[in-house]
Amino acid sequence: MADIHNENFESLLKQKGFLDIELDPTIDLFAEIEKLKKEKNAIVLAHYYQEPDIQDVADYIGDSLGLSQKAQSTDADIIVFAGVHFMAETAKILNPEKKVLLPDLNAGCSLSDSAPPALFKAFKDKHPDHLVITYINCSAGMKALSDIICTSSNARQIVESLPADQPIIFAPDKNLGAFINKKTGRNMLLWNGACMVHEIFSLEKITKLKIRHPKAKVIAHPECEEAVLSVADYVGSTTGLLKYSQEDSAQEFIVATEAGILHQMQKNSPGKTFIPAPPNNACACNDCPYMKLNTLEKLYLCMKYELPEITMDEAIRVAAKKPIERMLEISARYGL
Ligand code: 13P
Ligand code: SF4
Repeated sequence: MADIHNENFESLLKQKGFLDIELDPTIDLFAEIEKLKKEKNAIVLAHYYQEPDIQDVADYIGDSLGLSQKAQSTDADIIVFAGVHFMAETAKILNPEKKVLLPDLNAGCSLSDSAPPALFKAFKDKHPDHLVITYINCSAGMKALSDIICTSSNARQIVESLPADQPIIFAPDKNLGAFINKKTGRNMLLWNGACMVHEIFSLEKITKLKIRHPKAKVIAHPECEEAVLSVADYVGSTTGLLKYSQEDSAQEFIVATEAGILHQMQKNSPGKTFIPAPPNNACACNDCPYMKLNTLEKLYLCMKYELPEITMDEAIRVAAKKPIERMLEISARYGL
């Protein structure tokens, strides 16, 4: 068992996380987390892909844009980010004076990993006349190489805010980029990245499900492949999918995104049926393995010990802040 009083605790944590700390099983984690929030003036921000218990204890649940906006406006001293690393990093970029905690530092993102900054810089240097729009699912190093950041809920408006003849590189998600190219008639140069969770949905199995549930609407995240998006009745960010599922008159939905979102869908529309879109193999691949590294136990421990904390190089932070702020300004202009 890790010794939390050991002076090397922080480095132990970096290597192994909180995994081998034994917690008293009688602790009421929900009550303890609420107590810690008050004691430390901490806010818990959670993404829709987090496990249900974490969503239920969060002060705010949202998509990447909503979470960035909340991180920008909060007056809490500590931001506890129940999401993945790039999300917590974005909160830190916007709030250098605040402590930003992530329950499990290993909560990465396959899409972010598909764009190493050094490789991307070499690509960008070959296209000096292009502006770079980068999806928020990327590292601070990538953000620092970008002109504007976007999320799945504002990508279209961000692209359309630029002159029609402006050459653009879009990174790292080729599926979102292709979807926006189609919607806007642009011809952005796409980086070849993708999300391991959203690329796994099976069009064949969705088609079979549609035959068994003919009235069900297919709703999909734009990180899915073109073939899946082409059969979707609605394509949008996690917040967009949730809103659509509440407002549309359909009673059944086949949901092509990470399965964590079903918790809020079911909570907000208890009478409706939500069917997770099946992956093209037998495993539970529509669970994001990174998002699901965070647990209620780790959330509690991270708030108690104020570790692991997000830190970064100041020069990268300053360079990465500009394109995020540009995104937030354009989003506000569009009322997003
Ligand atoms: P949203 O911004 O739509 O919540 O997407 C985040 C994400 O990681 C999708 O895989
Ligand atoms: Fe990254 Fe995909 Fe997980 Fe979203 S679902 S955090 S894009 S790996």
